[in-house]
Amino acid sequence: MSDVKNLRLASRIIHAGQRTCPLTGAVATPIYQTSTFAFKDTDEGAARFGGTDPGYKYTRLGNPTVAALEECIADLEGGCGALAASTGMAAVHTVYFSLLGAGAHVVGTDALYGASRMILEKEYSRFGVTGSFVDTSDAGNVEKAMRPETKLVFVESPANPTLKLCDIAAIAEIAHRHGALLAVDNTFATPLLQRPLELGADVVLHSMTKFLNGHSDVVAGVVVAKDPVLFARLRSVHVNVGPTMDPHQAWLVFRGVKTLGLRLEKAQANALEVARFLEAHPKVSWVRYPFLPSHPQHDLARRQMSGGGAIVSFGVKGGLDAGRTLMNSVKLATLAVSLGGVETLIEHPASMTHASVPRAEREKAEITDDLVRIALGCEDALDLCEDLEQALAKA
Ligand SMILES: Cc1ncc(COP(=O)(O)O)c(C=O)c1O
Repeated sequence: MSDVKNLRLASRIIHAGQRTCPLTGAVATPIYQTSTFAFKDTDEGAARFGGTDPGYKYTRLGNPTVAALEECIADLEGGCGALAASTGMAAVHTVYFSLLGAGAHVVGTDALYGASRMILEKEYSRFGVTGSFVDTSDAGNVEKAMRPETKLVFVESPANPTLKLCDIAAIAEIAHRHGALLAVDNTFATPLLQRPLELGADVVLHSMTKFLNGHSDVVAGVVVAKDPVLFARLRSVHVNVGPTMDPHQAWLVFRGVKTLGLRLEKAQANALEVARFLEAHPKVSWVRYPFLPSHPQHDLARRQMSGGGAIVSFGVKGGLDAGRTLMNSVKLATLAVSLGGVETLIEHPASMTHASVPRAEREKAEITDDLVRIALGCEDALDLCEDLEQALAKA
């Protein structure tokens, strides 16, 4: 299918970027496992490097399998182009390295994914980059943190693992008024549930390790930009610095993306059911899920997202020790970091994914020691609730 523009999102997931091979008729996009591409003569080689011939030259600079995936994700996010990256952190690095120079300031969500915050504080700080990490669930905090040298506002919504939301449209307006760009990590929501570029963001990025690939078998990332000039800047950094994607990796993710709609529908239904089950359980002290009426930003969730996603955070009465017993007692859920796969995973952010954030900062960001994060997969909801029931009985 060459023109997917008029299709609905659920159909575009399957057809965007997908082309029948003109040589063989292969329906699945082939894996072009090659590092380089032959030119028919020196003029063609020169034209490709000169930019007058769009053909392929060298896989770091572009590859047909990777391009199919990039076209798909750019289409799903409504961007002008996408850059597939070897990991989600490679995508984050491409955004930082493209947009920040010496002395630049970043305003970020306080509960940003641990490494996204850590590389700013520990690595980019060597070049004079500073960061203010604030509770972006209140857009007023973003306004207060802006400085003349702020170049980038970087938010996660829902945030990992607190599931706090940002009002993306309000924050985009603040960023732009101060001459900064807004990047949104859309890993938790996916383009199916939340559309940051339509809400005013300039850049969207994902750890495709999670929902987009969906099978816990690949690490991958992607950056999508709205504006062609910004995209050209990001692309230049990406292909020259080189955190690009391998064709085989791209083929796996492209294959995974096709079932995103089906997987997310099931995982999200499971999340709502598990969230309701936990909320009613006497051993659970609190539950956060965007589509539960008890979520403090439930109205924003309903306005900004078309579904609550597949992650639930909760606290067990008895704090960390009780949570530990629970996590060591589950039998169907797997104790592992990551999320967005077909299998349910459970983890303890304070000692695992967010251990690199100092305790005081963690607590300020409400990543409390009792917080347990469960990332729902596609199993039967009753089996998941029964598993949690037997584990909570031990906690
Ligand atoms: C929200 C979010 N962003 C970025 C990343 C980094 O992605 P990766 O592990 O694919 O490098 C993660 C990883 O867990 C994440 O959860």
